[in-house]
Amino acid sequence: MSSCHYEHGQEKVPVLLDSAVRLISGFGYLRSRQPLVPVLLRFLLEEAQEEDKVWSLSAPFPLWSLLNAGPKRIWHKFQIFTAMKKILVTGSKGLLGQKLTELILSSNRAQLIATSKGRNRYPAEEGYVYAEMDICDTPRMRDVIQRFSPDVIIHTAAVTNVDICEQDKDLCRIMNVEAVRSLSVICEENDIHLIHLSTDFVFDGELGPYSEDANYSPVSVYGESKAESERILFNSLCRWTIVRTILVYGITTDMSRSNIVLWAKSALEKGEQLNIVADQWRMPTLAEDLAEACLLAAEREALGIYHISGKDMMSVYELVQHVAEFWHLNSSLMKPVSSESLNQTAKRPKRTGFVLDKAIADLGYQPHSFREGLTILDAQIKKRDDRYS
Ligand SMILES: NC(=O)c1ccc[n+]([C@@H]2O[C@H](COP(=O)([O-])OP(=O)(O)OC[C@H]3O[C@@H](n4cnc5c(N)ncnc54)[C@H](OP(=O)(O)O)[C@@H]3O)[C@@H](O)[C@H]2O)c1
Repeated sequence: MSSCHYEHGQEKVPVLLDSAVRLISGFGYLRSRQPLVPVLLRFLLEEAQEEDKVWSLSAPFPLWSLLNAGPKRIWHKFQIFTAMKKILVTGSKGLLGQKLTELILSSNRAQLIATSKGRNRYPAEEGYVYAEMDICDTPRMRDVIQRFSPDVIIHTAAVTNVDICEQDKDLCRIMNVEAVRSLSVICEENDIHLIHLSTDFVFDGELGPYSEDANYSPVSVYGESKAESERILFNSLCRWTIVRTILVYGITTDMSRSNIVLWAKSALEKGEQLNIVADQWRMPTLAEDLAEACLLAAEREALGIYHISGKDMMSVYELVQHVAEFWHLNSSLMKPVSSESLNQTAKRPKRTGFVLDKAIADLGYQPHSFREGLTILDAQIKKRDDRYS
C-alpha cells in the first residue's frame, strides 16, 4: 500500500485506519475472492491517497471528498478498483519474479501474492503477501493457491540453467514439466488463469526469427522440458497463456544467478580475457519489458502463445561489444569463438529471435531497444551503488 500523507501530530488516525484496513483485507485475502467490506475500505484509503488528501480529525474520512466528486466518478473508480486482479507469482525471488513484484507494487495495478521456495529476499515487505511455496510440493502448492484464491498465476519458477538440465534430467523434469502438470490441474480445478514462462530454446535456431506457430525442434534437455510443459497446457482445460522469452537481462536485489550483461560487464571491469560465441544470435530481453508483458497478458486475459523479447537481433559477440562500448570497457579483451570450440554441456540453438507482431497488436507490447535497456540498467546500478556507498 502506498504511503499516506499525514499532518504533523495527527499520525495516529490514519495509522489506525490503515491497520484496520490491512487487518480486514488480510482476512479477505485468506477467506474469499473479493469481500465487499475490505474492498470498500481499501478503495476509500487508496482514493484518499491518490487525491493527496490529508486525514485529520476535522476530516477523518475521505468520504466527504468522494461525495463532492459526484456519484458517477465514484462508481467509475470503484469499478476500476474492484476489477484489479489478484495475481500469484511463483519463483518471486528470481529475476522476473522480482521485476513483477516491483512493477505491481509501484503501479498498483494488481493485488500480489509472491511465492517462492524458502525465505523472501525481496527488500520491501509492505503492500503484498509472501508465502513459501515449493513448486515440487504439490499438496503445499494446492494449499497455498486455494488459501489465497488468485485470479491469475504467473509461473516463473523453473530450472533455468541449460547445462544443469543436461546433467540432472530428473531435476529438470520434476521442476520444468511435472510442476507445470500439477499447476495446470490446480488451475483447472479452481478456474485460475495460468501464465507460463517458456523459452526460445524450444526451437533449434535454424529458422529464426520465429513466430508463435513455428514447430518445436529443441536441441537440449532444457528446451525439450519446456516444449513438454507447453504440450501439457495444450491438453489442459485451464485458461492458459504461454509467454516465450529470450536471454533476459536486468538487476535485482540479492540475485541467485547472473545474466549475460552483468557477467560481461563485471568480467571486462576485472580485465579478464573473454571468449565469446560469435555464431549464436539472440534478441535480448530487458527484464522490465518481460514483466510488463506478463502483467498485460494477465490484465487482458490474453490466452494462447506470445513471443516476448527485445527488438534488436545480435550475435552474443555483438551483445558483449555493446556492453563494452556502453560502459567504456576494453573490448580488445574479447575474442570471437565458435560454439563448437566452447564445448558446452548442452547444445544451444544458432539463431533464435522472435517475430513480435502478435504481442504488439494484442497486448500493446512496446519493447525497449538494447541501448535503452542498458541505460535503464545503468541507472539502477548507480542507484544501488549510491545506497551502499
Ligand atoms: N532468464 C532467461 O534468460 C530466460 C530465457 C528464456 C526463458 N526463461 C524462463 O523465464 C522464467 C523466469 O526466468 P528467471 O530468469 O526469472 O529465472 P530465475 O532468476 O532463475 O528465477 C527462478 C526462481 O525460482 C526459484 N525456485 C527454484 N526452485 C524452486 C522451487 N522448487 N519452488 C519455487 N521456486 C523455486 C528460484 O529460487 P532461488 O533464487 O532461491 O534459486 C528463483 O528465484 C523461467 O521459467 C525461465 O525458464 C528465462
